[in-house]
Amino acid sequence: MEHLHDHEEIRFILDGVGYEDVRDFDGSWIRIEIKKGDLIVLPPGMYHRFTLDEDQYLKVSQCTHCHVSGVQSSIMISNIDQAMQRLV
Ligand SMILES: [Fe+2]
Repeated sequence: MEHLHDHEEIRFILDGVGYEDVRDFDGSWIRIEIKKGDLIVLPPGMYHRFTLDEDQYLKVSQCTHCHVSGVQSSIMISNIDQAMQRLV
């Protein structure tokens, strides 16, 4: 279900595949495939929704009340080494 938060939502995908849909500035949906090793950061106020793929399995580590300085927009990073460099 579509929703938003007044805080950042950060997910690190441990296993499986799913889809994070985020609304663009013009209100259209952008679908982002998320899979093992990905990190996605949703900024406060960004409408989003989530769904699983046909395997219906996803293992996620999620932080919903955390702060990452310098993140201005939704990011999805496929390489955890790059992700950690962005977060440091
Ligand atoms: Fe959320």
